[in-house]
Amino acid sequence: MNLKVPIAKPLTDEEELEALKKVLESGILAHGPEVEAFEKEFAEYVGVEHAVAVMNGTSALDLLLKAYKIGPGDEVVTTPLTFIATANAILLQGAKPVFADIDPRTFNIDPASVADAITQRTKAILVVHLYGQPADMRALKEIAQDHKLLLLEDAAQAHGAEFEGRKAGALGDAAIFSFYATKNMTTGEGGMVTTNDRLVAERVKLLRDHGQAEKYFHVELGYNLRMTSLQAAIGRVQLRKLDYFNELRRRNARTLTENLSKLHGLTPPYEDPRAKHVYHQYVVRVEDDFPLPRDRLREFLGSKGVGTAVHYPIPVFQQPLYQKLGYPQDICPNAVEASRKVLSLPVHPALTPEQLRYVIQSIEEAARS
Ligand SMILES: Cc1ncc(COP(=O)(O)O)c(C=O)c1O
Repeated sequence: MNLKVPIAKPLTDEEELEALKKVLESGILAHGPEVEAFEKEFAEYVGVEHAVAVMNGTSALDLLLKAYKIGPGDEVVTTPLTFIATANAILLQGAKPVFADIDPRTFNIDPASVADAITQRTKAILVVHLYGQPADMRALKEIAQDHKLLLLEDAAQAHGAEFEGRKAGALGDAAIFSFYATKNMTTGEGGMVTTNDRLVAERVKLLRDHGQAEKYFHVELGYNLRMTSLQAAIGRVQLRKLDYFNELRRRNARTLTENLSKLHGLTPPYEDPRAKHVYHQYVVRVEDDFPLPRDRLREFLGSKGVGTAVHYPIPVFQQPLYQKLGYPQDICPNAVEASRKVLSLPVHPALTPEQLRYVIQSIEEAARS
């Protein structure tokens, strides 16, 4: 009998409903004390001075780069194996994304390749903690310090992840998070900037709110990218559950790895011993000697009802948008190879033990084919 196993599923219950009800009854639905409370609690959780809530992760990236005045003539080194928002935020400033290759073991940006990509124009390194595992922030910090560059974290997939005992979001000069529905914690759509830099936090606050320093007193050109109290109310409840959700993800990942590492041609995720991986995605590498190519394995699992995904099938510089901008096709070979081999399997906290067993059995069946 086929079970249906989705690749992702937000987990909410009466607590989120109750929090939403309270906000609705309060009559303050847009920005208000609920958002400020969420910001304070999120900053405390991450271990930074300031957190600024915005509409989504994309706007958090946009406003953060604007706050640092990254613009035309500037280059920002980043990874090509990410959701397109990371690199597009750089383009949207009129700056140039410069792609460094990834470490094939962790799928995160490779510090040696970052060092090679730095020029006179480089202003920042924008690191992505891909799939929920922080990048090598020790080496990246050294490079950033040596070259006097900003070190920015795209922690959209890494709520609660750690590197050498410190949380993602507190590992560089500033960071962004996304609370999209499939993330480790959600507000439906939502985003946050975290930093210890008061001036940057203040600028993001201005930019998200029409450059409004006081009521109807506008000092900058800004947007309306404020988070609503409804989003914040959900976020506050989800934040309290985050460590529990992450433990469930890590437990599911352990079970998957224990079983899948026995299969020839399938490489389970590598955990950097200095990092706490929170498994936003559980990503295996389907090697060339696995009985089925990656996309055939996907089809097979799909026919069994097991949802999978590919994060990401095309490295950013090979996207049509970037090809039109003249990026070469043949840079970053490790990212190109990863995009051909990676497969994300269900690892989310809503998985039942029966579903998890079924995922493993279905992959074992594919391995025998
Ligand atoms: C690495 C990364 N950066 C940025 C974003 C953008 O976040 P959002 O979808 O909230 O705009 C996402 C998520 O979707 C992401 O995974």
